[in-house]
Amino acid sequence: MQRLIQSIRGMNDVLPDATPYWRLLEDTAREVLAAYGYQEVRLPIVERTELFARSIGEVTDIVEKEMYTFTDRNGDSLTLRPEGTAGCVRAVIESGLARSEQRLWYQGPMFRHERPQKGRYRQFHQFGVEAFGLEGPDVDAEQILIGARIWRRLGLEGLTLEVNSLGTPAARAAYRAVLVDYLRAHFDQLDEDGQRRLEGNPLRVLDSKVPEMQPLIEGAPRLAEYLDESSRIHFEGLLEMLERAGVAYRVNPRLVRGLDYYEKTVYEWTTDRLGAQGTVCAGGRYDGLVEQLGGRRTPAAGFAIGLERIIALLEAGAQPRHHLPHAYLVVAAAGAETEALRLAEDLREALGGLRLVVNCGGGSLKTQVKRADRSGAELALILGDEERARGEVSVKRLRQDAPQEQVPLAALGAYLAGVLGLAQG
Ligand code: HAM
Repeated sequence: MQRLIQSIRGMNDVLPDATPYWRLLEDTAREVLAAYGYQEVRLPIVERTELFARSIGEVTDIVEKEMYTFTDRNGDSLTLRPEGTAGCVRAVIESGLARSEQRLWYQGPMFRHERPQKGRYRQFHQFGVEAFGLEGPDVDAEQILIGARIWRRLGLEGLTLEVNSLGTPAARAAYRAVLVDYLRAHFDQLDEDGQRRLEGNPLRVLDSKVPEMQPLIEGAPRLAEYLDESSRIHFEGLLEMLERAGVAYRVNPRLVRGLDYYEKTVYEWTTDRLGAQGTVCAGGRYDGLVEQLGGRRTPAAGFAIGLERIIALLEAGAQPRHHLPHAYLVVAAAGAETEALRLAEDLREALGGLRLVVNCGGGSLKTQVKRADRSGAELALILGDEERARGEVSVKRLRQDAPQEQVPLAALGAYLAGVLGLAQG
């Protein structure tokens, strides 16, 4: 036997058991986004490395340690996108879309070379939402409402919304200076990561989850006290809109996010049901990024949902599974394969939404009924010699104890419509 070539660590297959949850989430998100007038964009998976360095920030975990970067045959440094915002901003500048208001969404795989664990993968998927040309806070509130509506439509409960304001870059710079002084004064209490971040990205020290660091973090000066007037008014406006819209939130003054492009609003939706990887969706405002990447100054805000984490929540709940076949056509009459394919085509034509599997590859009646059972179908439709001679099929209920029924072919569509609750035509 040949040696099996295995998948790459942290990069997973999505198999038939799981795809219905993916479809449910994707369809729901798409419908909700359409209801808010957001339009889809499809963006490349590979971009120039410089794009991410300049947007996410040189001194972030993502850019320093986690990117899949390679040199292509032309000698250009390219990177598998670790997130979608940078590419989306590049696209709206390059296409000229950024000159007018835009509400956009995208979805697809993202790549980060993190240490894989439950809920954290090296290839993962996001549903991303971005709005350009709108100052907020109304559009910030709108995007939070989009998230809330998606959770509601999926029947997800118990998600917590944490919000914060990072202020303008100028306000943050002033705060940063104060924070660096404080952290320097307590240098020996910082762990290795903290000491490293002190110079490059001191705000990220506040994000540390290390228990020994918590007293130090608790005692640190607070960003909220250094917020500029415009950011304060923006944030208060957002909180009021959320209250009026009935969205529960918690202000978390320590919430800083791991990407450098944010200013003013930042937020995360979290759950306590997924262990350490509890953030299922995150985003905020990035008013400076379009300009930073070579466009005209354009306010912007967005968020991204981590699909794997939402799928994990859906799988843990008792969500309906809509992927199993309704019926399995057992072709037991000799030489009836062509007729069976034809019958199945007619039924699919007549009944919108019918999921019908036709037995292929022959087999005895017993074997085929076994296959029908294994397929998960509700019903076995049996076309045997006798049935064929009478112009009927026998219908066997696979999930209930009920007598087998004989149904004339001409009445089969109406019969199935009734039993399965499907619309005819
Ligand atoms: P992010 O916080 O880096 O933000 O990622 C957003 C979400 O993607 C996270 O909350 C998480 O659910 C999921 N995620 C991130 N890394 C992983 C991983 N290794 N495995 C599984 N899931 C993961 C962004 O990417 C920003 N672009 C969001 C945004 C859009 N901000 C403005 N617009």
